Amino acid sequence: MSFRWLPASLAVSAGLIALTALPNLPRAWREAFLAVTLGGILLALYFARRLYIRYSALRQQLHDLNEQVETLNLELTRQQRRRLALIDGMPIPLLICDEDAMLRYANRVALEWFGFRYMTGKSLLALTFCYDLYLLMLKAARRMGTVSSEVTLSFPRERHVEATIWYLGEADSHHLFAIALLDKTELLHLEQVRRDFVANVSHEFRTPLASIRSLAETIHNDPQMPLETRQRFLNLIIQEADRLTRIADDLLTLTRVESLQPVKEVFALEPVIQQAIQEMEAEAQRHQVHVRAELQPDLKLFANRDQILQVVLNLLSNAIRYNKPQGSVVVRTYQEDGNAVIEVADTGIGIPSEALPRIFERFYRVDKTRSREQGGTGLGLAIVKHIVEAHGGQVEVESEYRVGSTFRVRLPITITEDSSV
Ligand SMILES: Nc1ncnc2c1ncn2[C@@H]1O[C@H](COP(=O)(O)OP(=O)(O)O)[C@@H](O)[C@H]1O
Ligand SMILES: [Mg+2]
Repeated sequence: MSFRWLPASLAVSAGLIALTALPNLPRAWREAFLAVTLGGILLALYFARRLYIRYSALRQQLHDLNEQVETLNLELTRQQRRRLALIDGMPIPLLICDEDAMLRYANRVALEWFGFRYMTGKSLLALTFCYDLYLLMLKAARRMGTVSSEVTLSFPRERHVEATIWYLGEADSHHLFAIALLDKTELLHLEQVRRDFVANVSHEFRTPLASIRSLAETIHNDPQMPLETRQRFLNLIIQEADRLTRIADDLLTLTRVESLQPVKEVFALEPVIQQAIQEMEAEAQRHQVHVRAELQPDLKLFANRDQILQVVLNLLSNAIRYNKPQGSVVVRTYQEDGNAVIEVADTGIGIPSEALPRIFERFYRVDKTRSREQGGTGLGLAIVKHIVEAHGGQVEVESEYRVGSTFRVRLPITITEDSSV
């Protein structure tokens, strides 16, 4: 209202002032006009003040509104930053592409995976060299939805991944899509190892079971069989049954070592080695192998005593069994770089260099027949490796074919409060 009244009152005042300037105007009229003009000016002032108050209130409102917009903007950038930090900190590679498969964003893990410092603005195909992933991206763009598939990346190294692509929305007149890659390489490898292991175990059990069955069947089908032959067959059945028991025992040991952390105690190493040598004495005599010990007397370990005994027994039995008549075995212990070292060296048949990397695998044997004749299961060294690694140690082997082998176990001498080694 005020903004219409203000010019009206000003116009009336100005009109009246102009009238007072007329030459023949009676004095009374002039005074009356002047009085009304004064009133008009006062009225104009009144309306001007009201207008000013309204203008100030509006200015304040505008200012408040501006502040609100600024706070909103700040919150928005904070949210955006949070979202980016979330994506960047994700432990899986995440890429953002547009509908033409051009890369708009790559998180830290994605950059590490593909070995780039900067990836945006390039084509997904040129970056990953994976045509399947590129096709999957185009499929997502066509459907404007979510797609998922297993793809194999070959750059910079082979990886089997589960790729999931989903539509994010529109930005700068482009449709954006997120690509998440889930590495399944290790999982597939473990699955393969498990399948191989089950197949190996079945195979190992099958052979003695088949022998037992055929021997028992022969005895069953021939009631007139000479007592001597029958006795021999029965002995073979017992041997095969023992073999099955040994495999089952070794498998149980392996499972136990794999699934449980060793319960440790402090003990002197020397008596453990002496015990192992004593337990293998009869075996050494049978093979005409001489066993000698060179032991550092004061060496103590913080480890699982039974498991360390098992390690020495397994290494010692191999050194005796895969030896030559009149051969020798030396068991040494010493300290080196904060480790206790147990060394078992033999003058045996040795291991061909191509077989060396495989001897710690479960069921791997260089000479199956010889191992079998010696009552081997192919699990002894796998058990050794597992026990040693569960103790934070390492096992290594040096061997020369037909000359001899040396197995070396290094175990950390951990000095802890409760160990007081
Ligand atoms: N000291 C050694 N000298 C020669 N060959 C060895 C020795 N120790 C292990 N091997 C080879 O490694 C294979 C795996 O050993 P191991 O796991 O103890 O199984 P096993 O003794 O039951 O066959 C053996 O079959 C043998 O061929
Ligand atoms: Mg063995």
